[in-house]
Amino acid sequence: MLDDLPAASTPAWADTRARLRDAARVCVLTGAGMSAESGIPTFRDALTGLWSRFDPAQLASEEGFRADPALVWNWYAERREGVRRAEPNAGHHALAAWSARRPGRVTVVTQNVDDLHQRAGQRGVIRLHGDILAARWLQDCPRRPACDIAEADDGAPPRCPRCGNLLRPGVVWFGEALPEGALDAATHAADNCHVMLVVGTSGAVWPAAGLAGRARRAGARVVIVNPHPSEIDDEAHAVLRGTAARVLPRLLALDGP
Ligand code: OAD
Repeated sequence: MLDDLPAASTPAWADTRARLRDAARVCVLTGAGMSAESGIPTFRDALTGLWSRFDPAQLASEEGFRADPALVWNWYAERREGVRRAEPNAGHHALAAWSARRPGRVTVVTQNVDDLHQRAGQRGVIRLHGDILAARWLQDCPRRPACDIAEADDGAPPRCPRCGNLLRPGVVWFGEALPEGALDAATHAADNCHVMLVVGTSGAVWPAAGLAGRARRAGARVVIVNPHPSEIDDEAHAVLRGTAARVLPRLLALDGP
């Protein structure tokens, strides 16, 4: 039978498998490429990436939302439908199954706003950039207790009938702080892992991109899985060229508990 991933027999693969098998703590940092084979577009891939077709200043900033709330809300509504239609791919499943055999030893930190890791059964995922399926008020609600977002009407965007506050997508936009606690937890995982696996990220967005360098400086082995070069390849001890859905099942399936 022809091997569909010939590179899988190289020393870098064997070394990575051995280190993953032996590591007491593994941190897996994922980006949009993780979900690409589930049909969710990435941001920066040429031609297919969202930011090659849409303007992030308009669609991923509070300023852009305030300028045209309906346009931005509807764009996210379409993306939400895409996420709901998508299914976890073989990479999500392989990672979740492998982690389940190592309780307490694997931390997944994702930049993705979809829920595909969770739907594959991954436990305790740290979400750096929020959740596209959630919404929150644009401004802090002035009332006590705060108005419940379930009360929002169904406009585009939905609006609070009592105070007029608008709902916005529950994702982090450019210029905004990461969710409270998520960056601390991710930093802790990076600083304390023995292997960091970086899957499907361009490494263009900080602070997430800085986690690989942190892990390396703390002594971890850093391995990147990506079919293309990324901005953080220099931080890696090894780069496995291939896609998440092809590499992860091969990389993670063969070792025992
Ligand atoms: P990017 O779109 O910047 O990068 C996607 C990466 O995935 C690229 O390096 C691709 O080569 C790689 N890739 C493509 N297909 C792949 C596959 N099948 N398997 C593995 N890798 C593949 O996405 P991110 O790095 O995640 O922010 O972008 C970071 C942030 O920028 C996102 O979280 C998003 C965006 O603005 C928010 O949503 C807040």
